[in-house]
Amino acid sequence: MTNTTAKFTIGDKSWDFPVRDGTIGPSIVDITPFYRDSDHFTLDPGFTSTASCESKITYIDGDKGTLLYRGYPIEQLADGGDFLETCYLLLYGELPTAAEKQDFDSRVTYHTMIHEQMMRFFTGFRRDAHPMAIMVGVVGALSAFYHDSTDISDPHQRMIASLRMIAKMPTIAAMAYKYSIGQPFEYPRNDLDYSSNFLKMCFAVPCEEYKANPILARAMDRIFILHADHEQNASTSTVRLAGSSGANPFACIAAGIACLWGPAHGGANEAALNMLEEIGTVDQIPEYVRRAKDKDDPFRLMGFGHRVYKNYDPRAKIMQKTCHEVLNELGLGNDPTLQVAMELERIALEDEYFVEKKLYPNIDFYSGITLRALGFPASMFTVLFALARTVGWIAQWKEMVEDPKQKIGRPRQLYTGAEERNYVPINDRG
Ligand code: CMC
Repeated sequence: MTNTTAKFTIGDKSWDFPVRDGTIGPSIVDITPFYRDSDHFTLDPGFTSTASCESKITYIDGDKGTLLYRGYPIEQLADGGDFLETCYLLLYGELPTAAEKQDFDSRVTYHTMIHEQMMRFFTGFRRDAHPMAIMVGVVGALSAFYHDSTDISDPHQRMIASLRMIAKMPTIAAMAYKYSIGQPFEYPRNDLDYSSNFLKMCFAVPCEEYKANPILARAMDRIFILHADHEQNASTSTVRLAGSSGANPFACIAAGIACLWGPAHGGANEAALNMLEEIGTVDQIPEYVRRAKDKDDPFRLMGFGHRVYKNYDPRAKIMQKTCHEVLNELGLGNDPTLQVAMELERIALEDEYFVEKKLYPNIDFYSGITLRALGFPASMFTVLFALARTVGWIAQWKEMVEDPKQKIGRPRQLYTGAEERNYVPINDRG
């Protein structure tokens, strides 16, 4: 613990604020009493310099390109374990023993079915509804069905709500997909592992036997691990902000899903795949790179750049490997979109503009191609991201609710609107 303080001076007045160190990463200046002492707010739109909370869950070193869940490098977790092990780690803080893992797996699978009446929610949506719209609605509706896990002051209810969401998210996501293509819903199978069960719920039909390909199921599982948490990103911050008012966990996760939907966040993998398909052939790449560099053209290379990673996104490397594995397994190694992606990556990584701005491929660059090869339409990509991120949202939500210092999130503003003025009746307005 350092005794350093930061001095802040406005005019002839100064204040000292404590500097606190984390385990690793940048220290923070604790400005909690800043307004009380100085009568000023600080302004930081987009939170580029502001830590919104203290957390023990996930650590990113954007300069080195490191991502740790509870201290463990993402590469090791993606290589060695499975998604439910990552869920356990994120929720409880430690890797499970074999017995703990077995117990956790069975506690999650116990909750995979959803209340039969919830099926009617799906049929209330138009067939062409975006599955993310369905996810926001149906996940929010869980709070109407599972009252016995909405008391956030009860640790047991908090854990049941957490297990329910991890277990039911694949069922809801698969149903959203089945509904959109006009196929009957597939019930979950608790004798299958998490990802094989999910693939089966998405791709099996009642008239045929279905057996998930283990290589594809492993790839799906790895994609879930890669997306499981990413510290205080926009959707996680949304979940925390929603939860800070005491809202129930299902409502908070629905808020996170709504935030994730945007193209600058979870929607980027869909946008990246659309872009690669639009580029179409390798010879078109220079034109798109030129447009991405043109200040007067709003076009950006989707799947490139990240607020935090100013080095290779470590998830992108694993995603690239997974992409090759999936395409090879399916005999699609010469897929033209993959060829465009590999060449675009090569060109951009050598281009001065991208090098100077430290713009590297992010996880979304290769995930779209992989998910499409697995059989998912682009509209499902963000749904899969939401499915995987649910555990991260829940772990972060639980950490916040269990923090005795937790307060409602209530940012301030710099007001630049009209000064106080009197109301003018409508007939007297000029
Ligand atoms: N293509 C071309 N130029 C870019 C790109 C890009 N993909 N990304 C950033 N830049 C430029 C940008 O124009 C700006 O240039 P200048 O300084 O000359 O004005 C500079 O790089 C910094 O960009 P920024 O928008 O200020 O950076 P940010 O940290 O606010 O934005 C980002 C990060 C991810 C929104 C942005 O890089 C982007 O729009 N990328 C494309 C969308 C994408 O792939 N998003 C997925 C993010 S990873 C998944 C997730 O975590 O949700």
